Order: sequence, then structure tokens, then C-alpha cells
Amino acid sequence: MLQHKHVLLGAGGGPLAWLAVEVLRALQRAGARVRVVLSAETEAFVPALTFQSLTSEEVIPADQPYGLLQGTAFRPLEALVRGLDALVVVPATPALLAKLATACADEPLVRAALLHRGLTVVAFPGKAPAYQHPLVQHNLRRLREAGMVLYEQAEPALPEGEEAAWSLDPAALVQEVAACLQEASALAGKVVLVTAGPTQEPIDPVRHISNRSSGKTGFAIAELAQRRGARVVLVTGPTHLEAPPGVECVRVRTALEMREAVLAHAPAAHVVIKTAAVADFRPKAVATHKVKKDEAAVVIELERNPDILAELGAQKGERILVGFAAETQDLLRHAQEKLQKKHLDFIVANDVTDPTLGFASDFNRVRILHASGQVEELPTMSKKQLAACILDRVQALLAQKARS
Ligand code: PMT
Repeated sequence: MLQHKHVLLGAGGGPLAWLAVEVLRALQRAGARVRVVLSAETEAFVPALTFQSLTSEEVIPADQPYGLLQGTAFRPLEALVRGLDALVVVPATPALLAKLATACADEPLVRAALLHRGLTVVAFPGKAPAYQHPLVQHNLRRLREAGMVLYEQAEPALPEGEEAAWSLDPAALVQEVAACLQEASALAGKVVLVTAGPTQEPIDPVRHISNRSSGKTGFAIAELAQRRGARVVLVTGPTHLEAPPGVECVRVRTALEMREAVLAHAPAAHVVIKTAAVADFRPKAVATHKVKKDEAAVVIELERNPDILAELGAQKGERILVGFAAETQDLLRHAQEKLQKKHLDFIVANDVTDPTLGFASDFNRVRILHASGQVEELPTMSKKQLAACILDRVQALLAQKARS
């Protein structure tokens, strides 16, 4: 699974420090070449000799932040982390998280994290009470924003005050490292433009026409595409979701604003995925002041918004175009029409009559209609899983284009 991969294992401290030894063994079993760097807290719990006896690479002690001094020879840390595929930190104590989040590089583990540009996975017992403190949560957010993968094994919630017995499965962590490394190469270097959320079309200063899109689907796709190595631009209508780390997020309100942002970023994009539920119509005139409820009868005259995806389809070029279709009847027929009319590579069709799926839900059940005529029916799945299915198909198309 990890043959020919070079991994630096950052061994944390605390009562769970022994888990780093198990992860070292699991990484080695998966075929990785592993070097260990100790944290300032490790040796109080696990001696360096334990790690050294398990690896032929030199263990980097915590008191040598700039490199290894061996006799008169000095090997700088830069040389020791060069060519590294992944840094895996386990278990990250709150103290270590704080050092990483603030770039407090007084020990080699933190300096290595600052020097390493590739995948960094940080594993910690997230359900333990100390990790719930807002300060620790703040540090975790900063690490996520810096693009690190936070690995928190799912644990059942514990009664208040009860200490978590963290049962990290080293094999599952290694699998996550392998998956992230694989993901990183597939879309590497590609620019992916994703749209998300609803648009709002103002009626007056306090009212608008909109829909129930939450943005969850587009945000999940943007986050995963970024993790798979793409440069991602996310153009989103109004939503409460936080921008995924490392993603360029452009926030817009109306369909016209979305059109402008999409057309500005489309020329550089290799892939466009349009999950946004764009309002088809907007009020022809926007009242300057709040429309009074005692006005006799209010008729709002609407005019058509431009179809952004159809515009992109008309100038498709080599770009991969993915559309969505939200339908309440004749799903396949309407989706098929949109697929052809907008010159899409594939369209993700969802029947939005089930209130537990689609709009605003964490789950969806879709069919994927391909330009080739193939129709796939996918089971009910989370929007994160759906994001993976969509990107897998995009990657297959990119690979096909590269071959032809
Ligand atoms: O945001 P969530 O809560 O996660 O919900 C996800 C979703 C239900 C919004 C999503 O799965 C979905 O179906 N999105 C498309 C909704 C939609 O507006 O479909 P449509 O059939 O009206 O549009 C077809 C395609 O054309 C879409 O890709 C849309 O982005 C695009 N379009 C539509 C109108 C317009 N003026 N410009 C466009 O680009």
C-alpha cells in the first residue's frame, strides 16, 4: 500500500504515546520507509531506544531542532525531510497541537512540519475533554486551514467528565494516509471550478426569491478536489458553511453575480462542476424601499436569468463540464435534455421530492447520465461520498483525455 513511500512519524507524548510505536509498525507493514522524530513529550513515556530498535533510520531526538549531529558530521533537518511523501503525527497532544498551530518551531517535529510541503496527517483523541476546549478547537481549525488532514477516529460520545479510552486502529490510520497520497496525485495541477448554494434575487431591501440549497454538495466536492491535489475555486451563493481550507472561495448573492464570477474563473478551469441551484428568474425591478403590506395587491414581474451552464457549454473546448438537475417529475427525460442542450460530459440527476434527501440534507440519491448514453443509478449516500463518486468520474475523463 505504501511501497516506495517515505514517511516521517512524529511521535507525540502523553499516556497514549505507545500508539506511535504501533503506527510505526503498521506503516512499515504497509511497505513505507519510516523515520521517527520525537516530540518534547515522547521520552517521558516511550524511550527513543524503543523506536530505534524498530527502524534502521536514525531517530531524531527532540533536543536537536536543526538536525542530527553524528560525531563531527551534521545532517540538517532540511536534508532529512527532503523527498518526504507524508508526515504523520500521532498522538498529537493539546501542547503539540498548539506548537504546530502557532509554528512554535523549538523542536524538530514542528520544524519538520514547517519544512514539509506535502501531506501532513495529525491524529489525536478528539473526544477527550481537553480537546473540546475552545482554545484547542481554535488550534485544530488553524491546522485544518493550513491544509493538514486531521485524523480523529470516530468514537462514541462519552458521558460528561468521563475520560476517553482512545482506541486508534493503526491499520485504519495507515489506510487514510495511503488514500490521501493516492488522492493527491489524481487531480494534481488541475483547476476545478465548483459552484454551490442557492442564489438570492432581491425583491426589495429585505426580501428575496431563493431556494432551499444549503451548499453542502458543492462544498463537499470543493473540499475533496482540493485534497486530491486540485487548485479549487468555489463560487457560492449565500450559505452558512465555512470555506474549506485551501480553497479560493468567492461569495456571491444573485445569479448575475454568480455568472460574472464563473465566467471570470472559467477560462483557467480544466473542470467545472455546477451544483448551484441558480434562480431561473429575478424580479424585473427591485423596490428601493421595503414594499408595504397594506399596498393593495403586489405583483412581482419576473425576468429570466441567464443560464450560466448553457453559456459555458456553448464554449466548452477541452473543459470537462458537470451539471446537476433537480427535478420533481420526469427526472431522466429532463436531465437528458439538459445534458445535451448544455453540452455536458455528465449530469447528476436528483429527484428532489423526498424531503430527507437532496436539498439541505446530508444525503442524496442520484443517477448519473453520461454523454456516452450510459446511465448509472447510485444508492443513497452521504454528500461526501457523492463528492468522491463525482470526482472519480471526472478523473476517469481527465485520464481518458490525456491518453487521446
Ligand atoms: O446545496 P445542497 O443543499 O447540497 O443541495 C444540492 C442540490 C439539490 C442543490 C443539488 O444536488 C442540485 O440538484 N443542484 C442543481 C439544482 C438546479 O438548479 O438544477 P436545474 O435543473 O435548475 O439546473 C441545471 C443545471 O444548470 C445546474 O447545474 C445549474 O447549476 C445550472 N444552471 C441553472 C440555471 C441557471 N440560470 N444557470 C445555471 O448554470
